[in-house]
Amino acid sequence: MNRQVSILGFAGSLRSGSYNRALLCAAADLVPKDAKVEIFDLEGIPPFNQDLEKSMPEKVKEFKARIRSADAILMVTPEHNYSIPGVLKNAIDWASRPYGDNSFEGKPVAVMSASTGMLGGARAQYHLRQVFVFLDMHPINRPEVLVTFANQKFDEKGRLTDEKAKELIGQLLEALVAWTRKLKVG
Ligand SMILES: Cc1cc2nc3c(=O)[nH]c(=O)nc-3n(C[C@H](O)[C@H](O)[C@H](O)COP(=O)(O)O)c2cc1C
Repeated sequence: MNRQVSILGFAGSLRSGSYNRALLCAAADLVPKDAKVEIFDLEGIPPFNQDLEKSMPEKVKEFKARIRSADAILMVTPEHNYSIPGVLKNAIDWASRPYGDNSFEGKPVAVMSASTGMLGGARAQYHLRQVFVFLDMHPINRPEVLVTFANQKFDEKGRLTDEKAKELIGQLLEALVAWTRKLKVG
């Protein structure tokens, strides 16, 4: 597989000034040359309703198609009450359904998080990693990108200013690209 690795990234926050979305944008700039990060906005995905599984809302159909066509996934999660925010879990639940049509199955995945607290969303990341088990995804373990005290790590335009975080994001994406190539070649 010599072509560019396509990574689909999404952030679990709809907030206009979201640190997690800003982190995802930083990743899109730091991605290795042999890969690209495309961003999917979760805004507009309705609350999950199993009655609609067989006639999914258009936004969900689009989300599932984008996941399927990507080589790898990058999830960026805030931490809400020590866990994954509902916005992210809701989107994941849609894309994993109907049973037997889980769009995430077999995909390599990397995680990042940003929080205003001192643990940088670690608890949410570990909950998300548990969800990857049932989704049958193949996560990157290291490096862990946990942006602590996020309100101090971005400038007024939402650009990441923390050099250490940038370095770790670069390493994470390199690991994701290498892992994706390994899985695809078999
Ligand atoms: C409902 C709610 C619950 C939160 N719970 C946590 C938490 O458990 N741990 C944490 O570190 N920050 C928590 N926060 C603070 C978030 O880290 C902070 O709002 C962050 O900016 C959210 O990410 P965003 O900027 O991408 O929206 C919480 C925020 C909200 C709104």
